[in-house]
Amino acid sequence: MSLYQQIVLIGPMGAGKSTVGRLLAHALSLPFKDSDHIIEAKTGADIRWIFDVEGEEGFRNRESAILEELMTRTPLVLATGGGIVLRESNRDLLQCADAIIYLTTELEYLIQRTLKDKKRPLLQVDNPEAKILALMHQRDPIYRSVATHVVVTDKRSPKWVVRDILSILQPGK
Ligand code: S3P
Repeated sequence: MSLYQQIVLIGPMGAGKSTVGRLLAHALSLPFKDSDHIIEAKTGADIRWIFDVEGEEGFRNRESAILEELMTRTPLVLATGGGIVLRESNRDLLQCADAIIYLTTELEYLIQRTLKDKKRPLLQVDNPEAKILALMHQRDPIYRSVATHVVVTDKRSPKWVVRDILSILQPGK
């Protein structure tokens, strides 16, 4: 059994939280959860619709409610939405986890991976590159202040990123 019962992945859009989280959960035999997917399933609508109809505030309220529900339930590997760290109450809840991994990537890779994105409402703007830059400028210090570990993904395959995380979580194994 893993010593880690709750592992949360945080970081920007396009860092690979969902892909890495799924593989990590499999490697540790823990259930995998993705907060965005749960929000969509519970709402019966996609995130763009929620932003359109309820605004970002409405989405954030749903996100906080889901996080509260998930963090009281163990065990899990949780992939979070990029903005989950914005609310102090969310940051407090995240502290319940055994490990909070900040997946970070060079800006050029974030931009490449999200270039043609049509699903993420915050990137449906005239200049998505500038938006990503501004979000990282605002959020990188917050991710770092919340994280117990920082893992750089860059161009590496999700499998290698998972190996890195496992070697951090299970040194000597
Ligand atoms: C957001 C990131 C998205 C999603 C929503 C808002 C953000 O999740 O929660 O579009 O504020 O950065 P991903 O990080 O999984 O793309």
